[in-house]
Amino acid sequence: MRFDNAFFELSCGTLEQLAPSDIPEVAFSGRSNVGKSSMLNKLLSRKALARTSSVPGKTVTLNFYRVDNVRFVDLPGYGFAKAPQKEKERWGRMTEGYFTSGRDIRLVVQLIDMRHPPTADDMQMLNYLKDSGLKFAVALTKSDKLKKMQRLEREKLLEEELAFLGNVPVIAYSTENGEGAEELRKLIEDYCG
Ligand code: GTP
Ligand code: MG
Repeated sequence: MRFDNAFFELSCGTLEQLAPSDIPEVAFSGRSNVGKSSMLNKLLSRKALARTSSVPGKTVTLNFYRVDNVRFVDLPGYGFAKAPQKEKERWGRMTEGYFTSGRDIRLVVQLIDMRHPPTADDMQMLNYLKDSGLKFAVALTKSDKLKKMQRLEREKLLEEELAFLGNVPVIAYSTENGEGAEELRKLIEDYCG
């Protein structure tokens, strides 16, 4: 797959705007600010194809990027406490609607901040994915922010925290230093091939 040959396709605020899909899709899911858009830019070797922000709650739409014959989908971030209830409900409808739309979703990359235990929202999402029958992998983001000892500690705890997932691929990842990017690209190619 030519990861460096991507372009922005569509930003969509309601599911009704979505044309039916007949090509493989890879979706990126995670709480607001966990690093979804940064990861997309990294995987696609682009500085700012997907908009990133230090202010959480920036991406409230589904954003589609075309990479060869595959679509990457930047899902809106969840768990933004200050978001109005109406927005949270809209998020739920959009995300669930997307997952159950019958599209050719080959892989969901679920991002979890490596520094902290999964939040209640993360756990809900992981359980949803586990029960959904969707194929998914976990990317542990911002690994660069952990010092060596902290990292060992978190890795040990994460093994327990994520044990219920069974055989799901878990990849430590950093947009800052590139850790895990190649592994993630390979995984995506495997699932989309
Ligand atoms: P929403 O669009 O709000 O859902 O957020 P998002 O998940 O797309 O997060 P985004 O990619 O915008 O990143 C949020 C912040 O985290 C930005 O300031 C990024 O620079 C920073 N960030 C993302 N990934 C990493 C990483 O691997 N390491 C470090 N140190 N910072 C990161
Ligand atoms: Mg984003």
